[in-house]
Amino acid sequence: MEYQDGEALVCMDCGATHEPEGGLLVCGKCGGLLEVAYPRSVFRSVSFNGRGVWRYRSILPRVERTVTLGEGDTPLVKVERLGESLGLRNLYVKFEGANPTGSFKDRGMTVAVSIALKFHARSVACASTGNTSASMSAYAARAGLRSIVFLPDGYVAPGKLLQAVAHGSTIVRVRGNFDEALKTLLSHREELGVYVLNSVNPYRVEGQKTVAFEIWEGLNRTPDFVVYPVGNAANISSGWKGFKELVEAGLADSKPRMIGVQAEGAAPIAKAFLRGEEAIETVEKPETVATAIRIGRPFSWKRALKALRDSRGTAVTVSDGEILRAQVDLARMEGLFAEPAGAAPVAGLARLSKQGFFKGDETIVAVVTGHGLKDPSVNIEPYAELIIHPGENPAEALRKLL
Ligand code: F0G
Repeated sequence: MEYQDGEALVCMDCGATHEPEGGLLVCGKCGGLLEVAYPRSVFRSVSFNGRGVWRYRSILPRVERTVTLGEGDTPLVKVERLGESLGLRNLYVKFEGANPTGSFKDRGMTVAVSIALKFHARSVACASTGNTSASMSAYAARAGLRSIVFLPDGYVAPGKLLQAVAHGSTIVRVRGNFDEALKTLLSHREELGVYVLNSVNPYRVEGQKTVAFEIWEGLNRTPDFVVYPVGNAANISSGWKGFKELVEAGLADSKPRMIGVQAEGAAPIAKAFLRGEEAIETVEKPETVATAIRIGRPFSWKRALKALRDSRGTAVTVSDGEILRAQVDLARMEGLFAEPAGAAPVAGLARLSKQGFFKGDETIVAVVTGHGLKDPSVNIEPYAELIIHPGENPAEALRKLL
């Protein structure tokens, strides 16, 4: 389909096309998720200029004022020691913890908050396991918008909560899990008069797809595999959209295979994929140490399953123990400190590698989505610690300790 006048919003379920307009979140006809679609001419004249997310402006929605904190352009690090321990010779980490608020959410938020201004929103809101709220609060502050965050009470990492507070958001603690917090927000969004910035918002996906462009440019090729932690499943779907658009623009000649990693206690998508089922079974009481992905009713499950299947990828579940092991390995072998959800892709790779899934020479990129400083409540054991009095000899005390 040709859209003569810039981008349009297309329903991923029924295919209906909608004019972009303020507040439209889901398909007016069937309630399906919307995706931003561009005229073909856009892909014929792609040009990349500058740095970060807005380097890819020519394949992003048109905005009037850009609300930016310099997001994107994150390190792509070859992790040789970690790779060797997993039997993977060409393993890279895309360290999204290096974004301004410490997670990949900033990529989506710079676009979606810029769009919120274009649609003349006064207030923005989201439900969040923590990172979305941290990011939204910062970008809303920068844009001069009011922001309200709906958080699952008691299950948001302290660093993330502090960020929302610091940036001046109003905090609504919902006595329930993330799924319930999101439902509460969505069913009252009109009364609240807010523009919703959860990843149901199609503009978030547009910003988040830019990680694919950076990976492709950073490696100078398409990797064989890209590995994502999966919660609501928007991010893995965004990455897949980005890789598809590189091919559509005639820049890349292949697409990677996508791997989705979920925590055992919150794995509706991985389970459906592995059982070959068409639909997910929701998890009523999701549980995992990786609170960022403690989600039982992922909004974008359909497009994530499609991404996994269309890319001939796979899914894997990992235990909390494996996630914490991966967190320590990343930190101690490579100097990269990830929050538990951010380390989940590494745990997934360890699992798959043990199962003989890889040959060993494939080029693999693990998307490490959030910074370890976000979650100081995680116990990192074991570690060496020495308590001494002034004047005591630390070398002697250390000898006794070790
Ligand atoms: N990793 C981190 C660090 C996250 O914060 C999230 C999601 C994900 C992975 C999963 O991404 O939901 O697109 O599959 N955090 C959301 C939040 C839910 O509210 O911050 P997804």
